[in-house]
Parts: sequence; structure tokens; C-alpha cells
Amino acid sequence: MVGSREAGKVVALSGTPGTGKSLVGRRVSEALGMELVELSDLVIGNRLYAGYDEVRRTFVVDEDRLRDYLRRLVAERGRVLVVGHYSEIVDDSMLDKIVVLRLNPAELYERLTERGWPPDKVVENVEAELLGVCTGNALSEHPPEKVCEVDVSGKSVEEASREVVDVIVGSRPCKTYVDWLSDESLVSFVLGLGGAPGYPMRSDGEALS
Ligand SMILES: Nc1ncnc2c1ncn2[C@@H]1O[C@H](COP(=O)(O)OP(=O)(O)OP(=O)(O)O)[C@@H](O)[C@H]1O
Ligand SMILES: [Mg+2]
Repeated sequence: MVGSREAGKVVALSGTPGTGKSLVGRRVSEALGMELVELSDLVIGNRLYAGYDEVRRTFVVDEDRLRDYLRRLVAERGRVLVVGHYSEIVDDSMLDKIVVLRLNPAELYERLTERGWPPDKVVENVEAELLGVCTGNALSEHPPEKVCEVDVSGKSVEEASREVVDVIVGSRPCKTYVDWLSDESLVSFVLGLGGAPGYPMRSDGEALS
């Protein structure tokens, strides 16, 4: 179909690290027959980074080159599911919807700690989830009607994937509705993490006294 190769062929899947994007993304791409594009693999595999941030222990993405690369990739491959916590980077002209996975910050804390992440990185991401940074980033690049949240708290990967598919195909409403900040005990819990041993860290990994 000519139409399907025109604008609006990308679905983006975003969410704070640890919310389940990769596991959910794999299932959703299979269910909808969309090619899966993991931004982190794309960036590292094609050296689309400007450098390495020693403090945050992460690659710094070269956004202009990544945008160009995605434009070419979508023109070549057609309908794709772009997965990553900065997947709002997809041009709005190519985007159908951006689905943001949201996870209760207390549950995210458990998950990232179990993953063995250093305390400062856990806290940074739990704070980002509390504030809704990924949703904010999506709304800063795309109109609100294209930004859809799915609260995956307490849900299995299967349940979460089913909800995401429903939102993409339109059988569930696409809307933003998650507000962890209105839960005072959750806010206190996250603020309490700020004083965890080893946080904040210096660039050499030593805790500041
Ligand atoms: N619904 C779920 N229930 C329980 N555990 C889950 C669920 N979804 C993901 N996990 C676990 O959380 C961890 C992170 O999942 P995943 O790698 O899919 O997240 P991600 O959002 O892709 O993270 P990153 O941004 O770091 O790539 C994994 O250990 C996974 O097993
Ligand atoms: Mg992932």
C-alpha cells in the first residue's frame, strides 16, 4: 500500500530504564508484525554518540546524527517500533503514537536494585519516574493526542504488552493519566532515598562526604 509507506509509520515505546520497554517491546513487535528497533543498540552499533559521560556512566547520544539515521531507516524499512527512553527523538511527521510505560517508583526501586545498579543510578531513575520525565519529554516533541501512558505497575509482561497493543491499535484510549506526585507517601519514600549511602557520587565513584 502506498499510504502505509508515507508519513506516520513509527510507533515509539518510551519509559524510564527498568519499566520493561525491551521485554514489552519484543512482544508488541511480534503481535503487530512491526520491526523492533532498540535505540541503544542502534546508537552503540553505529557509533551515533558524541562521547561517554564518565559520571553518569552512559553514552552521550549525537541527537542530530540519530535523527538522520532514523529518517533513513524508516524510509527503508517502513513500519517500525522504536524502543528507548529517548524515543521521543523520532520526527513527529513519521510518528503515529508514543507509548510511555509508567511504573510505580517503589516497584521501580526494587527492580533496579535487583538488577544490581549502583545506588546513585537507581535514585536518579526513580526520581525521573516520580517526576514523569519521559512523558514530559514526549509532550515536548509531540502533540498530546499522540502521547499515551500505560501504567504497568503490578502487571506481568504479558498484561502490559496486551495493554500497549490495545493502545496502539486504538481499542484503548491514548491519554496521559499517571501522577505519582499526588501520592504523598510515595514522594516521601523517594525523597528519603536521596540520603542513601554513596549518593551523590563524584566522577571517580567515591561518595562525597
Ligand atoms: N512486568 C514485569 N514484571 C516483572 N519484572 C519485569 C517486568 N517487566 C520487566 N521486568 C524486569 O525488569 C527488568 C528490566 O526490564 P527491561 O530490560 O525490559 O526494561 P527496559 O525498560 O528495557 O530497561 P532499559 O531502559 O535499561 O533498557 C528486567 O530484569 C525484567 O526482567
Ligand atoms: Mg531495554
